[in-house]
Amino acid sequence: MQQAIAVLDSGVGGLTVVKEVMRQLPREKILYFGDTARTPYGSRSPEQVVEFTREIVDYLVQFNPKMIVIACNTATAVALEDITSRVSVPVVGVIGPGARAALGRTRTGVIGVIGTEGTIRSGAYEAALNRLSGGKVQVVSEACPGFVPLVEDGNFRSARTREIVEASLATLRDTQLDSLILGCTHYPFLAETISETMGPGVALISSADETAREIRSILERSDQLAATADGAPLHQFFCSGDPAKFREIAQTWLGEQIRLTPVVWQVPHIGA
Ligand code: DGL
Repeated sequence: MQQAIAVLDSGVGGLTVVKEVMRQLPREKILYFGDTARTPYGSRSPEQVVEFTREIVDYLVQFNPKMIVIACNTATAVALEDITSRVSVPVVGVIGPGARAALGRTRTGVIGVIGTEGTIRSGAYEAALNRLSGGKVQVVSEACPGFVPLVEDGNFRSARTREIVEASLATLRDTQLDSLILGCTHYPFLAETISETMGPGVALISSADETAREIRSILERSDQLAATADGAPLHQFFCSGDPAKFREIAQTWLGEQIRLTPVVWQVPHIGA
């Protein structure tokens, strides 16, 4: 049986990475876990995010994946090392790829980062950007805690969405950035409104594209790229919250029907 790439997020955000993996690596089978019962992760403590990420990884390894992709910046910031030390397959996060994509794009070296409270508090993007550029960039960060609930509600283009996006980006809009990292995998769902708010001079950087490239290069190096498949691979999706809501957002975003299995956590840990 074809070994899959396992992708996880606190909710539907990681689907922005999945879509790009499907585009760049159409033969790869994907297992996706969206922890929609416990989203958002951004306001939780690092300890709890590590615990939740471990639980999802423990769930996914029963399917013997060939790689784990933490398609969540909040979890990448605090759990990437922990998960890497716990499993025997390669683990890919989204912060390194997002930082590389921004450095490839910026001309002025003034880069904005938006993300959850957890991601911004961790300073993981500043650290990655400074490390990769040798300290040559200026980084301006802003947490946008209002964005993830909008996306989980499928509320991508309403007047309320515009109001929240404009209010959250007011400070960054007055800063001379040329690139803005969407440092949360949920944010590409709001890209049109974010772009209209920031104006045409600011390039939006999503980590999806670069993450898919990193996945390809790791699989190529270990000679694990999927060989010619007979027909499209059978992807499998799991979510811990309302399956109807997850299905609707996933099918609209991916443009295809999905196979979805609801998962009920024994201890749901609702609340921060
Ligand atoms: N999509 C996630 C991220 O990239 C998490 C959002 C959340 O649950 O707060 O950070």
